[in-house]
Amino acid sequence: MNNILKAFFGLLMFFCVKLNAQNHLTFDISKYEIQNQEFEGKTIKVRAFERIVYIANPTDIVQQIINIYIPEEYFIGGILNGYTATTAPIFFPNKVGGYMPAQPATFLNNPQRGGMGGPSNNAISTALARGFIVASAGVRGRTSQLGKAPAGIVDLKAAVRYLKFNDKTMPGDANKIISNGTSAGGAMSTLLGATGNHPDYEPYLKELGAANESDDIFAVSAYCPIINLENADMAYEWQLNKIHNYSFRGKEGTLNDMALKVSMDLKNAFPNYLNSLNLKDSKGKKLVLDSDGNGNFKELVISYLIASAQKSLNSSEDLSKFSFLKIQNGKVSSLDFDGYMIYLERMKTPPAFDALDNKSFENNLFGNASIDNRHFTDYSLKNSIESNPLKADQLQVKMMNPMNYIGTKSANTSKYWGVRHGAKDRDTGFAVPIILATTLQNKGFNIDFALPWSKPHSGDYDLKELFDWVDKICK
Ligand code: DHB
Repeated sequence: MNNILKAFFGLLMFFCVKLNAQNHLTFDISKYEIQNQEFEGKTIKVRAFERIVYIANPTDIVQQIINIYIPEEYFIGGILNGYTATTAPIFFPNKVGGYMPAQPATFLNNPQRGGMGGPSNNAISTALARGFIVASAGVRGRTSQLGKAPAGIVDLKAAVRYLKFNDKTMPGDANKIISNGTSAGGAMSTLLGATGNHPDYEPYLKELGAANESDDIFAVSAYCPIINLENADMAYEWQLNKIHNYSFRGKEGTLNDMALKVSMDLKNAFPNYLNSLNLKDSKGKKLVLDSDGNGNFKELVISYLIASAQKSLNSSEDLSKFSFLKIQNGKVSSLDFDGYMIYLERMKTPPAFDALDNKSFENNLFGNASIDNRHFTDYSLKNSIESNPLKADQLQVKMMNPMNYIGTKSANTSKYWGVRHGAKDRDTGFAVPIILATTLQNKGFNIDFALPWSKPHSGDYDLKELFDWVDKICK
């Protein structure tokens, strides 16, 4: 009897603690301050709910906090851009760069993180001026012991659950969350869209005391997402194998013999990977590469670059200096791939992501609480110059790659995707976002994709276009 009573009280305590934890996640609509900012000739006035811890068991209350900005009009029955307090979509930008820890974005004084993307003040003000609610969550990152993969994406999911948990009390429609990020932040945004409600992340969310809610989102906006990390080394060398000079985070040089061999190995491995994906072009024809790396997939990459040049030409830019382009009667008729790569230049040394010295951002991302850096490809593990090289856990690597989840049975993948990767971006190969876009197209998702001409590794450079697209999919 005693034991049964003990078990009963134990269970009761467990549910009380759980209930209490969930209660702590209740949004307090009375705790705000008014913030104003002049933007495009008008004053934006918001209620700012800042630094709310979005989980019951935080490990890091510096990062695991969310800022929420709600236009004042929604508290007095107003309509903005056709949206009301119940229908306004939620713009959800993150400031992740370099897979580092990230603070939530702020409406006032929102500095860009050192060249690594993150929403500009303008993205947030534009969203608010167009009637969106803005919510931005901070997340843990690779430089802290508990911030290794998959901590960042787990945190973002927990923040989405917080928004959904409070959907009834908070203005805005948590079924219309549009995630936004650039580079590693674009990868986070892509992951959020790809992996909605997938059980792989559940134990991590439970441990953090995330709200008992779903975490799928409506739409993804991603700029130059640094994704598909375990295949990105091959994609990079397939594209840049002939470019031997590099300029990488302050270091310049020419690839030595060993690097040239690594480049060749990786380039030669890419066609097998690409062919295994079974991607189709718009006519249903399989996209392939031969053992030299030529084929209709390469033509597809070229066609995206031509479309980009054409758009730029149509807006009266002078492209006559680019000898790799053939332009006839206002039409870009061809692009020389090798010539384009000379113009683009190489940034990273091979392998671009899983570095043989085990010191890249990504090696650091795939550490764990006791080992700071690890390899995540068999190639770099085998060719590591470390004395005791280790490889990341398979599940950890899987959970950081959206390609593993898009349209799979156990994931609720976002229906709408807006992806941009600058045509002058060398942080990852063009094949990476093109494989993403093609996979989404092939699986029936709604994807708006382009390689904007001459744009380097950056984001939020086309805010009017971005929010016109968001309005179109939300209305
Ligand atoms: C970022 C850039 C990189 O080149 C990379 O490998 C990882 C992240 C970034 O800007 O976030």
